[in-house]
Amino acid sequence: MTPSAPILLFDSGVGGLTVYDALRAVLPQAPVIYAADLAGLPYGTKTEAQIAARVAGLLGRMAERYQPRLACIACNTASTIALGMVRDVLEIPVVGTVPAIKPAAALTRTGTIGLVGTEATIRQAYVDDLETQFAQGKRLLRIAAPGLVAAAEAKLRGRTVDPALIADVHDRLMAMPGGADIDTLVLACTHFPLLADELAAVFGPHVAQVDGASGIARRIAHLLGGQTFAAGTTNRFVVTGPLAGASGLEAELAARGFGAAEVF
Ligand code: DGL
Repeated sequence: MTPSAPILLFDSGVGGLTVYDALRAVLPQAPVIYAADLAGLPYGTKTEAQIAARVAGLLGRMAERYQPRLACIACNTASTIALGMVRDVLEIPVVGTVPAIKPAAALTRTGTIGLVGTEATIRQAYVDDLETQFAQGKRLLRIAAPGLVAAAEAKLRGRTVDPALIADVHDRLMAMPGGADIDTLVLACTHFPLLADELAAVFGPHVAQVDGASGIARRIAHLLGGQTFAAGTTNRFVVTGPLAGASGLEAELAARGFGAAEVF
């Protein structure tokens, strides 16, 4: 393994930066190529077949071009649908991002957990399996919040989040049977922790937010244990589609040690 070989972090947009931030905390030296499939954003409204074909195809081409030591699908939608397929295609370790139902089940005191994801994620059998495995005896209330993906993208580009969007998520969950008992909220989309403050303002301090970012970062660090990393490499931020898609992100990228955005 060459010390300059990067970790490839992949998402439909900027959501995976929440995983990047957690990864930085445990592996500050590791060179990272962050790939945002802005031309395919959003994934959550696409079909399983569209997402699987797109993600497996893109990651195959990206792995060939960038020769990463490990790939992380920093996207719940893509992971719950295409993780197995991507693992079949790539010859490197592939880490996925799946809804943090297990830690949420350990945390809840009321036994009622809210789960907010994309439309595609919340209907996956993968999520049913996580619920069966880890949330036996708990109540898991799932809703899709596609508007939050666009809101998170806009927030990172310096735009204000419409509070009505967050209030709508809250109100829909509260209107479900048992909704008022929710004390733990699974942010089952990597974009949503970017809205943690806005969510906390509406849900209040008694509702804990749980996401998978730190667990994924620890998993990556574990898999790369003992490997060396070249010092002083600049992280790269690549996008599909026109470069204009990344405009407005300059300050956020610079703060995270990325060079100027590039087109894949
Ligand atoms: N960030 C992605 C996730 O974790 C999805 C956003 C999208 O709909 O593209 O699910």
